[in-house]
Amino acid sequence: MRKKIAAGNWKMNKNYGEAIELASSITNAQVPEDVTVILGVPYIYLKEINEIAKANPNVFVSAQNVHQKENGAYTGEISAPMLKSIDVPYVIIGHSERREYNCETPEILKEKVRIALDNGLDVIFCCGEPLEIRKKNEHESYVKDQIEKSLAGLGDEDMKRITVAYEPIWAIGTGETASPAQAQAMHKAIRDYLKELFGEKIAEETAILYGGSVKPSNAVEIFGQEDVDGGLVGGASMKTDSFLDIIKSF
Ligand code: 13P
Repeated sequence: MRKKIAAGNWKMNKNYGEAIELASSITNAQVPEDVTVILGVPYIYLKEINEIAKANPNVFVSAQNVHQKENGAYTGEISAPMLKSIDVPYVIIGHSERREYNCETPEILKEKVRIALDNGLDVIFCCGEPLEIRKKNEHESYVKDQIEKSLAGLGDEDMKRITVAYEPIWAIGTGETASPAQAQAMHKAIRDYLKELFGEKIAEETAILYGGSVKPSNAVEIFGQEDVDGGLVGGASMKTDSFLDIIKSF
């Protein structure tokens, strides 16, 4: 049985008061016992929201990024040992916005995945194609390449701590969602590829999340697809009611 995961990615949103209020209202809500809820919050709120989340055994925090080096002269960056030192359980690595605006290459992402795992962080690894690749019908090979370059070579114990998030870039923040069939086709392709790289057991156990304009009105159908194990949600995760509806969509 794979985990069912509803993960929110707040990106660079919410001031301090709003962040604490949102995290508290999600944590205090009834969450189905078999659903893992993850709040991807800005760094500066991690410690406090991590403490808040501990009141609900199903709710966890995640960092949205981590630096690839252990420590050193990298002004403004946050390291995996720092996240570990405040007990952060998850980190999102490879979001398309970071690949694009922060020039994160697959090779850098591979280093980030390694150092996160070495410091006991579970990784939500993002992949997904831009619109021009989808139009050329090259999305499967594009995403496989992203996975190959950043995850290939990980051991079984490492892979048990990886969740994959497929987020087609053309569906992020655009209101345009991949159809349930498009999502399922890609998730199946990813799972088949994980099988090639890591074997059947790991592939069957790895949760693959869909991201890109998930909302209460489409979550049931998307989460109902065989190879979709939940969502990584931006906009709709930042309102208590809509995120709770999504959490209850499995
Ligand atoms: P939206 O749900 O706002 O489209 O964002 C998706 C996303 O990028 C989550 O990481």
